[in-house]
Amino acid sequence: MTIRTIQTAAIPGQKPGTSGLRKKTAVFMGHHYLENFIQAIFDSVGAKGKTFVLGGDGRYFNAEAAQVILRMAAANGAARVIVGQGALLSTPAASHLIRRHQTDGGIIMSASHNPGGPTEDFGVKFNMPNGGPAPEAVTEDMYIRTTQMTQYQIVDAQDVPLDKLGLDDLAGMVVEVVDPVADYAVLMEQLFDFAAIRAMFAGGFRMRMDSMCAITGPYAVEILEKRLGAPAGTVINGTPLPDFGGLHPDPNPTWAKPLMDEMFSQSAPDFGAASDGDGDRNMVVGRGIYVSPSDSLAVLAANAHLAPGYRGGLKGVARSMPTSAAVDRVAKALGIGHYETPTGWKFFGNLLDAGLATLCGEESFGTGSDHVREKDGLWAILLWLNILAVRKQSVAEILAEHFAKFGRNYYSRHDFDAIETAKADAMMAALRGRLADLPGTRLEGMEIVAADDFSYADPVDGSISTAQGVRVMFKGGSRFVMRLSGTGTEGATLRLYLERFVAGPGDLDHDPQDALAPIIRAAHVLAGIEAFTGRLRPDVVT
Ligand code: G1P
Ligand code: ZN
Repeated sequence: MTIRTIQTAAIPGQKPGTSGLRKKTAVFMGHHYLENFIQAIFDSVGAKGKTFVLGGDGRYFNAEAAQVILRMAAANGAARVIVGQGALLSTPAASHLIRRHQTDGGIIMSASHNPGGPTEDFGVKFNMPNGGPAPEAVTEDMYIRTTQMTQYQIVDAQDVPLDKLGLDDLAGMVVEVVDPVADYAVLMEQLFDFAAIRAMFAGGFRMRMDSMCAITGPYAVEILEKRLGAPAGTVINGTPLPDFGGLHPDPNPTWAKPLMDEMFSQSAPDFGAASDGDGDRNMVVGRGIYVSPSDSLAVLAANAHLAPGYRGGLKGVARSMPTSAAVDRVAKALGIGHYETPTGWKFFGNLLDAGLATLCGEESFGTGSDHVREKDGLWAILLWLNILAVRKQSVAEILAEHFAKFGRNYYSRHDFDAIETAKADAMMAALRGRLADLPGTRLEGMEIVAADDFSYADPVDGSISTAQGVRVMFKGGSRFVMRLSGTGTEGATLRLYLERFVAGPGDLDHDPQDALAPIIRAAHVLAGIEAFTGRLRPDVVT
């Protein structure tokens, strides 16, 4: 087999965002596009003699991209690549494999919750030897290399058969095809009380798991149905498809509407859950009651000690800034530290590595712990199951008790998609320019007590991240936050995060949109959303 050096030229715009490089599939399939970015990764982290993990969420182009990446890894001198069978790996399972085999990192092919298919999205991200997403300094270095790219290396070879387990040789590099589920399932068995959950299912407890035709299907069938004894058919949309069956594999009330409808119907099972394209996100729903991700994080933090893996208690908790402060109050009650980080999972990695936090989460349906260095959809679902099995209460009862004890943060996020970038930028700039004048202002009967643009000093490495989102805080713990998405692939996406604190139990049936109405109006007035962008109504409300 020969190694070929292909002359190429820099391709503009290969700048990885908060979760790697994400583009339209056709862009990724374009001439040298994938190759240039993969060469930038290997040039940046070095490939000679190294071992990497490789897998993806199975979306369109996953299998072809895997073959290119393997041929380039071999040409760049990698010693070994551990690949999930069929080139499949959920993001958390990839993170676990990287850690378990102490590899030099891994390449994950996914555009997460973005739809897949020839006209949809594809993505590639690099995870570090700790199993977590590459930090900004590393992705920035990769980006700079893409701008200077002149050549890449690839071997001429047949496709490596990735459908059968075992070892193969590719131009001197070992390709090890592993079961994508096995190691991950063992890890879950170590963390959770499988016997208690099995007994709960045996006792008639019923759940619905919607894998949204994405990667968690095989994981959920193996763990929930085979190992925990949930009835066959508990998992729906369980076969990963290249276009996710045309679904938008993002587990939220909008995109997982069939699950929501079932959970609010007469025949609702006890518990419902869904996960996203690459398996790192989760949504949980009780019978007739939705659990917001911010509340889910708080409930998990308050009850984690009921699971064997967390019996010793939590070292601390962390949440992204736009996530509600519900978990902070749990941390105070537990007497543990709580951290507020910028949006994006990578900021949690340092806290987890340093042992400052055990649990972390984001309002965007991401929850996880120090068992891997990614958020983990099935993990969160299993922790909920463990808690339900031990407490022997319904989701609604657990939430009601939680709110009564800790108070309630009504919460919602409004997304305005595909805004013209210049308009969104102008709106944010105008808002930022007024922040200093806002404290003391009254709006909708509420007083603004503080307004800033969030910046974060990492307590572990001291790095500073500025301009992470505008926060406007009202007296009494209400607030709104505005930032532009770092993961969208079309124009700009404005995210408006709304939160209102009510001491005591609140009313379980109170629609958060009603509870938040004054804050929604205040945000629109202050930022001039309609005047700048022409948008009044959000595209997605979660
Ligand atoms: C979004 C979420 C963020 C999450 C990221 C990756 O990023 O808001 O919490 O970490 O996807 O899943 P955004 O598009 O807001 O930059
Ligand atoms: Zn994801």
